[in-house]
Amino acid sequence: MSVAAAVVWHDVECGSYTEDLALWRELAAEAGGPVLDVGAGTGRVALDLASHGIDVTALDSEAALLDALAERATAASLDVPTIVADARDFAIGDRRFALIMVPMQTLQLLPDADGRGAFFRAARASLADGGRVAIALADALDSYEGEVDGLPEPDTATVDGITYTSLPLAVVDEGEHAAIHRLRQTSAGSESHDVIRLSRVAPAEVAEEAEAYGLVAETARRIPQTDVYVGSTVVILRAR
Ligand SMILES: C[S@@+](CC[C@H](N)C(=O)[O-])C[C@H]1O[C@@H](n2cnc3c(N)ncnc32)[C@H](O)[C@@H]1O
Repeated sequence: MSVAAAVVWHDVECGSYTEDLALWRELAAEAGGPVLDVGAGTGRVALDLASHGIDVTALDSEAALLDALAERATAASLDVPTIVADARDFAIGDRRFALIMVPMQTLQLLPDADGRGAFFRAARASLADGGRVAIALADALDSYEGEVDGLPEPDTATVDGITYTSLPLAVVDEGEHAAIHRLRQTSAGSESHDVIRLSRVAPAEVAEEAEAYGLVAETARRIPQTDVYVGSTVVILRAR
């Protein structure tokens, strides 16, 4: 896929989600110090926080997405440093963050407990004393295939005169993972099938795993579901 297409599909499938923004702003304000957005993509959350005066750094494994984020930050006269790195293996010099946040189920893109452990180790090392890690986990990953009542609405956006539509087709139970199948179509006539796999991991499991890395669970927060997106539980962990 071209760089431009990767950015557009990311925007189509993530860009219109706003239900979680108030909570990230609230957590960032409570943190009262620098914030690290892990899996920041094209900057849906990081740019919103920066526009509210938060000192935020964006980390993602995809350089193309961070390039788009950086362009948008510059266009909006915002300063959002970017770091291309894997969530399981990042080190940011002497910088310490008051809040490390992982929006929109990005932790569930890590395939297993080893991957999550590697993230907790890296995050703990980059946290300020008493800092917090906040992780959004999808609530329901119920399986469905074919025509079912209550199927999420498609994501859609028009860019440069072309309409992009991403239609959820199925969520397939693969045991430890849920495979989310989507049909990506454009008004220019292209069509492709995309699959992402999310680990099925409950908030209590994440809290228990994190404890081994010096991160202690506080009361979790909720993000309600919308017509298009499932609801989330946000696990909050504080550095011991
Ligand atoms: C569901 S998107 C969320 C994007 C953005 N945080 C938002 O809420 O709109 C997941 C993001 O995580 C990034 N990502 C996936 N695996 C990653 C990893 N192992 N390390 C760093 N980033 C990763 C993807 O490139 C993508 O930008």
